[in-house]
Amino acid sequence: MLPNPYAPGELPRVLAGREQQQDRIRGYLSRIGTYGEMGGPLLVFLGPRGVGKTSLLREAQRDAEAHGFITAWVACRRNAPFLPDLVSRVGKAIETADILPRGEKGSWKLRLESIALEFGLPSGVKVSATAAADRSGADAPPSGAQISAMEDLLHETSSQVRARGGAGLVVFVDELHAAARDDLAVLLNAMQNLAGRREDNPLAIIGAGLPSTPGVLVNAATFGERSTFLTLPRLEPAAAAAAVAGPAAELGVTWTPAALQAIAAEAQGFPYLLQVLAHATWEVAKPSGTGEVLDVGEVQAGLPLADDQLTSMYAARWAAATELERQIMAVMARVGTPTVTRAEIAEQLGRSTQALGVPRERLIDKGIIEPAGRGEVRFTMPGFDRYIRETLAGEPADADQGTGQLATGRRRRELPPASDPGRGTPRR
Ligand SMILES: Nc1ncnc2c1ncn2[C@@H]1O[C@H](COP(=O)(O)OP(=O)(O)OP(=O)(O)O)[C@@H](O)[C@H]1O
Ligand SMILES: [Mg+2]
Repeated sequence: MLPNPYAPGELPRVLAGREQQQDRIRGYLSRIGTYGEMGGPLLVFLGPRGVGKTSLLREAQRDAEAHGFITAWVACRRNAPFLPDLVSRVGKAIETADILPRGEKGSWKLRLESIALEFGLPSGVKVSATAAADRSGADAPPSGAQISAMEDLLHETSSQVRARGGAGLVVFVDELHAAARDDLAVLLNAMQNLAGRREDNPLAIIGAGLPSTPGVLVNAATFGERSTFLTLPRLEPAAAAAAVAGPAAELGVTWTPAALQAIAAEAQGFPYLLQVLAHATWEVAKPSGTGEVLDVGEVQAGLPLADDQLTSMYAARWAAATELERQIMAVMARVGTPTVTRAEIAEQLGRSTQALGVPRERLIDKGIIEPAGRGEVRFTMPGFDRYIRETLAGEPADADQGTGQLATGRRRRELPPASDPGRGTPRR
């Protein structure tokens, strides 16, 4: 039996359709590689849950390492500082790369420890006395001592890497929207200061987060707005097909064009859905050897399994929402058009658009809905609206058959004909 090559919720075996973004990152890093100077302001990829931010960054990390960079990775979490982690990851990266001559390792270790102390390490949990004082008031300026410690860390490590023949240092910061404000202020201030001596600092920081990230950065430091923000779109149909066909091809298994089209149409370019659907198809079809072919019948047979997985995820999202957030989502789901205007939501709920501002923003922050053009919003993941309709109705919404959205009920359903025009094109 062949292993299932799809990875719902994990890194994809084939990262499809991200050439443009990868080029952008390479361009950003090539300045460091070539001139040994700082790449530029923070580069941040934005997008809803499941669109592929982490996957892109991990691929960029691999690529950077292949080009002689030393890299460190941190993921922010709500209500937790991330700088202690950043310091220890950068330290670990230098250690693992083993670039320091034996005689310098001891003094470097001491140096790192003194920097780490500023961030409450080695415990990694408690913050230092100065930091604790600075964290008392919401408007307190970021700790000067922490800013200079962060500058020292980034400057010293990146120039060490360079001096030992490496290209430079790249720090990846995932889940930036969840970053603690004070920590973010320290990092942004440190970067700002380092940019003043860019030729001495061969480093870059690349981040990713939900669409709310720009606001979080600006809130931490006004010049956070000078970061470069790039929105990660859904995959184009050809890339969606490559995301599904590629991992199978590595095992000698082929998807028919009709099967690829059916999955692409169901997923509407959404990477997480592509993985769930392809994974479920494979689980049910169990191709056992080279030369096997997966067709629409197999995709159809895999749907209940895919639906189960998605239903659990949607249920968790719904359960985590407040009453008012649910009311907004319910209106959006009932309206049933790809995008819904704010005015329409307000009218249906009998409230002013302003009154709905907070819950609407919270839904956007959580990556459940996203702005789509002037005054409009839409669900980020195809299929959630259908789940809501079914949950509210307590029965399947048959009227929605063939709208290109994945039914999440347990009943059997048919895939729409592959030739259905207008399908297979991701909504943007
Ligand atoms: N370019 C791609 N080609 C194929 N599969 C992809 C691609 N990008 C992401 N995926 C798949 O989509 C799913 C979601 O990817 P990922 O975890 O990177 O998204 P994310 O934007 O970081 O989501 P979250 O906000 O929840 O962290 C994973 O199963 C991954 O394998
Ligand atoms: Mg992620």
